[in-house]
Amino acid sequence: MSRARPLWAVIPAAGAGERFGGDVPKQYLPLLGRTVLEWAIRPIQTRADVAGIVVVIAAADEYWPGICLSSGRIQAVHGGPQRADSVLAGLDALSGKADARDWVLVHDAARPCLTDEDLDRLVETAAETCGGLLAAPVQDTLKAADNGSVARTVEREGLWRALTPQMFRIGELASALHRAKTSGFLATDEAAAMERMGHRPRIVPGRADNIKITRPEDLALAEFIISQSGVA
Ligand code: CTP
Ligand code: MG
Repeated sequence: MSRARPLWAVIPAAGAGERFGGDVPKQYLPLLGRTVLEWAIRPIQTRADVAGIVVVIAAADEYWPGICLSSGRIQAVHGGPQRADSVLAGLDALSGKADARDWVLVHDAARPCLTDEDLDRLVETAAETCGGLLAAPVQDTLKAADNGSVARTVEREGLWRALTPQMFRIGELASALHRAKTSGFLATDEAAAMERMGHRPRIVPGRADNIKITRPEDLALAEFIISQSGVA
């Protein structure tokens, strides 16, 4: 099946970056001549088939006006206290122009290393089912700990790290996130909310170096990954 409906994007960029620390939120830090946020949007913005992009920023954001993303397709709205609230605000902003059956890519502003190839594969594959997400297989042996000691080893076979972008139909995702919120379930990604509604999002294998900038050491790693990729 091919993707018959239009494609949109929501970029949650309203986080405070507490684990990263510092004065400037991590999505606005410089990385190879652009901000982390601009790198994250790049592969989505360069696609001609994305009808519009909503960047979700914090209400007190003072950095967004300094970003120069020259495109009439990009709009900014204010997010909420949790990532899921910010994604909902982004979906809400799309509801006026998009159809509930249209597809939406949700991609963290803190993931600047997404490749065009991974995005292509997600867009092609996710529309064959209820939607899907980029994910990378877990490589390390996993330990469950109890008071600082190993309680047991967790079988890593079949375990994946959920990345972004994740792609779902706007209406189904909005209702899944609303349901999660009203029942007090904290959905840390879109797929978690969809799973709760009985959907089985497609795992689309992606590059392990589609990292999320979380701690200061991740920035140098992202710089290396992007410079090696040839897009810089
Ligand atoms: N995000 C958001 N709204 C929130 C929280 C997070 O839009 N209320 C966004 C972040 O800006 C980021 C993405 O969701 O692009 C992934 O979140 P995370 O890496 O956890 O970023 P922060 O929440 O900013 O970092 P921390 O958890 O360390 O505070
Ligand atoms: Mg967070």
